[in-house]
Amino acid sequence: MLAGLQDVTFEFGARVIVEDATWHIQPGERIGLIGYNGTGKSTLLKLLVGEYLPSAGSVERSRNTSIGYLHQDLLSFDTQDSILQVALGAFERVLHLEKEIEELGKELERTGDEKTLHDYSDKLHELETLDGYNIHHKTEEVLQGLGFLNADLQRPYKEFSGGWRMRVLLAKMILQQPDLLLLDEPTNHLDLPSIEWLEKYLQHYQGSVVIVSHDKYFLNRMVTKIVEVYQQQLHIYAGNFDYYEKEKAIRVEMQQKAYENQQDYIRQNERLVERFRAKASKAAMAQSIIKKLNKLERIEDAEIERPNIRINFRVDKTPGRVLVELHHVSKAFGNNVIIENSSVEIDRGDKIALIGANGKGKSTLLRIIAGIESFSKGERKWGHNVEESFYAQHQLEALNIGNTILDEMKECGSQMTELELRGLLGCFLFSGDDADKKIRILSGGEKARVALAKTIVSKANFLMLDEPTNHLDMHSCDLLIEALNKYEGSIILVSHDRYFISKTANKIWEIVDHEIKEFKGGYEEWVAWKERMAKQEAGKKSEAGSQKPENKKPQKNNVNTALGIQAAAPRPPASSPINKDVKKELQKQQRIFQQLEERIAALSKKKSELEASLVDPAVYSDKAKFLQAESAYKKAADELAQLNGQYETVFEKIMQLEQK
Ligand SMILES: Nc1ncnc2c1ncn2[C@@H]1O[C@H](COP(=O)(O)OP(=O)(O)OP(=O)(O)O)[C@@H](O)[C@H]1O
Ligand SMILES: [Mg+2]
Repeated sequence: MLAGLQDVTFEFGARVIVEDATWHIQPGERIGLIGYNGTGKSTLLKLLVGEYLPSAGSVERSRNTSIGYLHQDLLSFDTQDSILQVALGAFERVLHLEKEIEELGKELERTGDEKTLHDYSDKLHELETLDGYNIHHKTEEVLQGLGFLNADLQRPYKEFSGGWRMRVLLAKMILQQPDLLLLDEPTNHLDLPSIEWLEKYLQHYQGSVVIVSHDKYFLNRMVTKIVEVYQQQLHIYAGNFDYYEKEKAIRVEMQQKAYENQQDYIRQNERLVERFRAKASKAAMAQSIIKKLNKLERIEDAEIERPNIRINFRVDKTPGRVLVELHHVSKAFGNNVIIENSSVEIDRGDKIALIGANGKGKSTLLRIIAGIESFSKGERKWGHNVEESFYAQHQLEALNIGNTILDEMKECGSQMTELELRGLLGCFLFSGDDADKKIRILSGGEKARVALAKTIVSKANFLMLDEPTNHLDMHSCDLLIEALNKYEGSIILVSHDRYFISKTANKIWEIVDHEIKEFKGGYEEWVAWKERMAKQEAGKKSEAGSQKPENKKPQKNNVNTALGIQAAAPRPPASSPINKDVKKELQKQQRIFQQLEERIAALSKKKSELEASLVDPAVYSDKAKFLQAESAYKKAADELAQLNGQYETVFEKIMQLEQK
């Protein structure tokens, strides 16, 4: 075991975060740590690294385990050094060696002394074993993977925004290659190409990785185990997110059934008691039934508890038909041109998603529209009666951490009374005393909720939202989608979350070649349109190249490159002759496949039987029996999941062999 919690209880004052929690992290595991906002995920990571101490139980770390921990809040770290230098800091020993070698080299020139020569060659040898000649190359590769341009690498760290700083620290951490990486919502500040890069990188990571994330897709591809913080307990699931969802539904259903059956059983016995009580001869019997009932370990109702935030965007006034116009606007940062001579307008009822890779200037464009970013040429015009509200990216930095939640709300200058503000905060799950909590101690998702509440307070008719789903748990994200759909005003939003965009936008804007391209339709239509365009383009090219056979290679499809999605490669023809070895292997795999199928069928049957036994009153009213049945059920379920995994792998192998 690398690290873990043993019977750990931890609380903040009266608030219990986990009770009696046990979790062992093994070498090579990739674990997703999930749970609703504020359930204690970040707190658990802090317990693991020793930033917090448990009030009961113990946190275990083997002595040699090195841990890398990426905070959810941006660190206060600041420096004039270039980002390359900061990331190179991962190779402390190598940098130190380089210096020593340089000095020894100088000394050698001066003295020619034998001992120095000896030291010199020793150090060179050490540098080589540490792969010291490659550190610059490796560092650049990682920084580029995370979206930095070559030209950026020499710029001071200080000049970068919070999100980009986080990437530098992330780069440094993965270059250090600790045995255990703890990453708290690493994808929040990444665009899709960088997320995909990180995924690939982490998939081949040697050490263990624990990732806190609210991103289903990311979790599905990244992790093989899920640990859920729910009702002050840790629940462990041996699979990815899809597996967790299915399995959790089963567990809940099982518990629900057991609960209902137990309730029936209790009611039945209570009726007996009623009846027997009346008869003197049966009074003792009634007593013993009552005793039995009292001893019964009650099964809890399995109804899922979840945080239902109530977002209700309201509009005060109706604006004119056009909200904002940009006329021939140009904007550049030094040589970095964002837009050139661009004109667009936002109309009443528009729900625009502004998409594209990081660095294209989406946030800048949003700020230009909001009127808080200057530009060199052109004109920006507000329409009539426009009341805007801006939800800025990196909210965690925008909030004043010394304020209480209520103060923060008061400071945004609405006309609401304190009572009304408290009511509004209640909708965002800060009820009673919670409103007096300091921003400093809030979890990521809680801060995002405060920021959302601030956006709502003004009853604006035009919302500008920059990455509004960052930090929100999946359920809150769904509620936000619902609220935005009901909203009567207009919206422009920036997001990298495909699901979110597809559910909210009726227009898509993309910055292409320094121009804003508008697509009048939702995200899915836009994707289809892009695909059609790419096909046409490919068609044209292959026609043009038909004279030259070497040009016939399939064109790399650049569909959706803005979001970093690539179309699948064409399949190889299936008609080529199958050679003997392949055939043999294929038969072998097919045999394995059949055996697996049989084992799975048998085990599924066993699992359902065990499931049925769990809801049998004879079993659940006897604690020992129930626990035994439950653990047998869990074992069967785990084994089944494993077999299913093997089944899929073999199936894939067969598919591949058949294509040879
Ligand atoms: N120092 C503290 N004192 C009191 N309460 C705290 C403190 N730090 C955190 N909390 C509270 O403990 C709870 C758990 O916080 P934590 O940051 O671990 O949540 P989380 O699961 O990471 O949530 P999110 O998904 O929003 O990031 C939150 O309600 C938070 O407000
Ligand atoms: Mg957190």
